[in-house]
Amino acid sequence: MRWSWLVALVAATFWRGVLCASLSTAEASNVKARLAEAAQESWELGTREQTLLETDATVYSVFSDQSLPPPSTVPDNMTDALAPVLSLAQEIVANRSASNHNISGAQPLMADGSAADPASNGVAVLIAGWTGQGDADGLNYTGAATDQLDFLLNNVSRSSDGAISHRVSQTQLWSDFVYMVPPFLAYYGVLTENETLVAEAYNQIKLYRDNLRDTNANNLWQHVVLGGSGTDSGHWSTGNGWAAAGMLRVYATIQKSQYESTFSSELQDLASWAVEIQKAMYNVVDKTYIFRNYADNESTFYDCSSTALMAYTVYRLYTVTGDTSYIRQAERSRQALYASGVTSTYSLSASSTSTSTASASASTSTSPSTSGYKHFTSDGWLTPVVNPHSYGLEGSESAEAQAFVLLMQSAYEEWVADGSQGSGALQLRVSVWGVLLALLAGVVGLL
Ligand SMILES: *[C@@H]1O[C@H](CO)[C@@H](O)[C@H](O)[C@H]1NC(C)=O
Ligand SMILES: *[C@@H]1O[C@H](CO)[C@@H](O)[C@H](O)[C@H]1NC(C)=O
Ligand SMILES: *[C@@H]1O[C@H](CO)[C@@H](O)[C@H](O)[C@H]1NC(C)=O
Ligand SMILES: *[C@@H]1O[C@H](CO)[C@@H](O)[C@H](O)[C@H]1NC(C)=O
Ligand SMILES: *[C@@H]1O[C@H](CO)[C@@H](O)[C@H](O)[C@H]1NC(C)=O
Ligand SMILES: *[C@@H]1O[C@H](CO)[C@@H](O)[C@H](O)[C@H]1NC(C)=O
Ligand SMILES: *[C@@H]1O[C@H](CO)[C@@H](O)[C@H](O)[C@H]1NC(C)=O
Repeated sequence: MRWSWLVALVAATFWRGVLCASLSTAEASNVKARLAEAAQESWELGTREQTLLETDATVYSVFSDQSLPPPSTVPDNMTDALAPVLSLAQEIVANRSASNHNISGAQPLMADGSAADPASNGVAVLIAGWTGQGDADGLNYTGAATDQLDFLLNNVSRSSDGAISHRVSQTQLWSDFVYMVPPFLAYYGVLTENETLVAEAYNQIKLYRDNLRDTNANNLWQHVVLGGSGTDSGHWSTGNGWAAAGMLRVYATIQKSQYESTFSSELQDLASWAVEIQKAMYNVVDKTYIFRNYADNESTFYDCSSTALMAYTVYRLYTVTGDTSYIRQAERSRQALYASGVTSTYSLSASSTSTSTASASASTSTSPSTSGYKHFTSDGWLTPVVNPHSYGLEGSESAEAQAFVLLMQSAYEEWVADGSQGSGALQLRVSVWGVLLALLAGVVGLL
């Protein structure tokens, strides 16, 4: 009796130490405040919107357990959570004409040279239209989404096999596209009951996989192919994560919609392609469980940003399909990201060091601290990370990295709430240690 009680007690203590290292609510809001400050570029805004939907305005996330379409009247308890998403949509739609020289008809939501990135704001704009924000402020949200759709479908150039270009100026395919465009196409299709668009969301992912998957590298995805300049045949870790995460958003959009049974084989493909990326990626991670900026290139720096994004895709895949293939690897990455210690120092250019110092002093007065973590600065920046505006370089203060932490954290919490399925080997390891410790405690107790 006494022994089994001890075993349980000690195992539980040890268990908490090993598995529950996690951000507190205050620390997560610190990370979130830095995300709000840093997100400026089109895809950063789109990624921030998606993060706020998944972590706060959950009824409007495709990963909620509610079916689509979402409520057209915002529930009282979602008003505050949805407000920052709606306000971004408002700013973007209000700025659209200035951004596009007052043209009418087909046009991107923002003009920044990327054909794909502005469309990452499309889901937020659709939600604004769906919930009738235009009635209050006079903006044409649904029309703006339609113009963005038409621009993608009719104005942007395509590869010979039909993949929509990631760039406006030349036909070029970037792995990032999978997060920026197909989730918008699928959501648009579901809200307007347009099955063709849902099929196109799937089709674009298929075409991107055909072009970017590197069968000579165990199915890691290349970063940028086609086009005259700026190709990148390396296996950029964040790009692999964008692709897997985009697949899962499209998966969940279809799964929650009226098209679930029509697209059952496409759903199977999407899930298996996401696992394919996880398999390729975790196959090359070293014992730190932090990815290199280019997953299979040991000469490149360690990047916590893609590490958080990849772990996110693993918990997310679990919440949509129940697949636990890479849960143990994701747990190791998550624990590595949340390791305690002195914040890693790494090479920074003089200018980014001064930015970092400036914002640190600006923010410490208003935000709780994230101190004591090896991979977070005290004001909540994940580190070290790839420069989000120059993918070959190490940087600091990455908006997308902040988003990936929050996405990982919330999907992780859903996985835990569902019983931490698939952490079997860890459980075994923990309980072996628990038994040993209990034996020791028992012996000490007898003396
Ligand atoms: C919001 O309210 C609805 C009922 O109106 C309830 O089902 C739901 O759980 C609430 N959500 C949150 C996040 O409190
Ligand atoms: C909208 O335009 C204003 C004024 O030019 C600018 O300050 C703001 O950053 C823009 N917002 C977005 C989301 O582009
Ligand atoms: C767009 O239209 C507004 C008002 O109609 C005008 O003030 C502005 O100069 C126009 N901008 C461009 C780039 O044509
Ligand atoms: C909203 O925008 C769409 C797409 O450009 C356009 O067809 C429609 O006429 C606009 N609606 C209003 C009320 O301006
Ligand atoms: C999109 O294509 C249409 C039809 O070819 C053209 O009239 C329009 O100017 C194009 N819009 C942009 C923003 O390129
Ligand atoms: C679906 O969307 C496409 C692209 O906008 C459009 O051409 C087509 O007519 C739509 N189909 C239906 C049934 O509305
Ligand atoms: C690995 O990265 C280094 C440093 O960026 C680069 O010089 C090298 O070409 C890369 N190797 C491969 C095989 O891509």
